[in-house]
Amino acid sequence: MATILGIETSCDETAVAIYCSEKGLVANQLYSQIELHRQYGGVVPELASRDHVRKLLPLVVAALEEAGLTRQDLSAIAYTQGPGLAGALLVGASFAKSLAFSLDVPAIAVHHLEAHLMAVMLEECQPDYPFITLLVSGGHTLLAEVSGFGCYRILGQSVDDAAGEAFDKTAKLLGLPYPGGPELAKLAAQGNPNAYPLPRPMLRESNFSFSGLKTAVRQVIHSTSQPVIEDVAASFQAAVVETLVTKSIRALQRENISRLVVAGGVSANCHLREQLIEQCQKNNMAVYFPKPAFCTDNGAMVAYAGWLRWQHQFLDADTSIEVRARWPLDAL
Ligand code: KG4
Ligand code: ZN
Repeated sequence: MATILGIETSCDETAVAIYCSEKGLVANQLYSQIELHRQYGGVVPELASRDHVRKLLPLVVAALEEAGLTRQDLSAIAYTQGPGLAGALLVGASFAKSLAFSLDVPAIAVHHLEAHLMAVMLEECQPDYPFITLLVSGGHTLLAEVSGFGCYRILGQSVDDAAGEAFDKTAKLLGLPYPGGPELAKLAAQGNPNAYPLPRPMLRESNFSFSGLKTAVRQVIHSTSQPVIEDVAASFQAAVVETLVTKSIRALQRENISRLVVAGGVSANCHLREQLIEQCQKNNMAVYFPKPAFCTDNGAMVAYAGWLRWQHQFLDADTSIEVRARWPLDAL
């Protein structure tokens, strides 16, 4: 039996959870910095780091209380080592390594994207290996073949903006508040997705590119006398979703794999979920998502990825504190 504390501080969420090998997830605490960054229209890294310093310890105390455990019950401390904002990561890494040292238990470095994609294993219905994963977050967009835990082969990735970043930047163009992605999705639900013809970028290629789409939206706004903002949002969302769905189905067909796992913040998007379910059904494929709360950043996925690493004895070798702002998934 093992009880793993998971700490996530890679961006603008301070998140802490506890995963117990016998009972599953026994605590899940999250503090979002949305209010802090809203006035700036995006994440201010230095403010994010300082707020993690303020919130992390109280969240760990709350998680232990929620689980009815004490620090001495913890078997290991897992933390997001990267990729993410260096300062924000350092807060979580320093805290985790110090706590692990003081309790004389191992620290476990977790890859943020591996945690995202393994979040699906916290659901009732879990995929067998191999599967294809579509990882769509604020910082990354990629398709990879997952042949086992830790075995990742990148099939394609974004050459510029990530899907979430494109949502956020387009939302800004439309005058929507931060965080833009979910706000744009809300607006899109009321609009006509065929109102404005927008490109489906690099549809035939393995890689993704979303920065041109954002520019196309800017042109629509500037060249139309009274653009209907709901229609622009719906047209943009339709273009991103069609691109992601088409490339995912093609990757599944090409690799002759029938299971797709979708993860990362953008996988909370209702239109993307609906379209993937529809297209996978049509093609006799199965699609798996984490629950929406575990699509965006959370501590549960870090605690769970920590448990998987614990089982494989992938533990930190020493007490040095290291973070990786950039860290390709296939370099694990
Ligand atoms: O995974 P995540 O929480 O953080 C990163 O690892 O980047 O993803 C955050 C991204 C943001 O760009 C956010 O706008 C986007 O996910 N996002 C959404 C939705 N919910 C979050 N994008 C579109 N529709 C949504 N419902
Ligand atoms: Zn994330």
